[in-house]
Amino acid sequence: MRTNPAAFALALGMGFIVLLIGFLALNVGGLVSFNLASEDSTEMPIDSLGEGVVVAYKPRPLPPTSAPNGEAIVIGDALFKNNCAQCHAVNDKVVGPALAGITKRRSISWIVSWVHNSSKVVASGDEYAVKLFDDNGKQQMPAFPNLSGEQIKSILAWVEWQNSPANSAGAVAAN
Ligand code: HEC
Repeated sequence: MRTNPAAFALALGMGFIVLLIGFLALNVGGLVSFNLASEDSTEMPIDSLGEGVVVAYKPRPLPPTSAPNGEAIVIGDALFKNNCAQCHAVNDKVVGPALAGITKRRSISWIVSWVHNSSKVVASGDEYAVKLFDDNGKQQMPAFPNLSGEQIKSILAWVEWQNSPANSAGAVAAN
């Protein structure tokens, strides 16, 4: 029986392609599992999550409660999630402004009054508050009269923890 050289070459070529595809598939499988294994979500930059993923805040692992200010940060984390995260993030504007650096922009007592009743602070004519309100389309932030000063400070401790090197926790407690 004579072999048709063209058919033979074709069969060889197809075999090669099948092998190549198998090899690529293995390789991709290997790469994917490698990525998953080495992925540390806490270290992952926000923009690598891709478009359409709403990141309310960049989570940083909480400190142990025994760390300086650790307890406040842990409490602040829960309070922030329950009361503030729908409108605020640490580094991005959501509905309200990014809260990073807020304790440098405003005093603790100003922030406490603001969170307790922002429209009262705006109505008092406070220049910063009026501008803030205007710059955010006069959208009124809900009042949180039930949050104590300590609880609000815990939220601020959490905000600072999100943005500060590990050893600077405690900045708010020192204020
Ligand atoms: C429903 C949305 C909403 C929620 C919930 C909310 N805020 Fe706000 N926040 C705003 C808006 C909007 C502003 C901008 C000022 C304005 O328009 O009144 C603001 C402003 C602020 C500011 C001033 C920021 C700056 O740059 O000066 C602070 C501080 C603040 N919010 C803290 C909080 C905290 C703490 C919580 C949770 C206890 C919270 N907010 C919950 C909408 C919200």
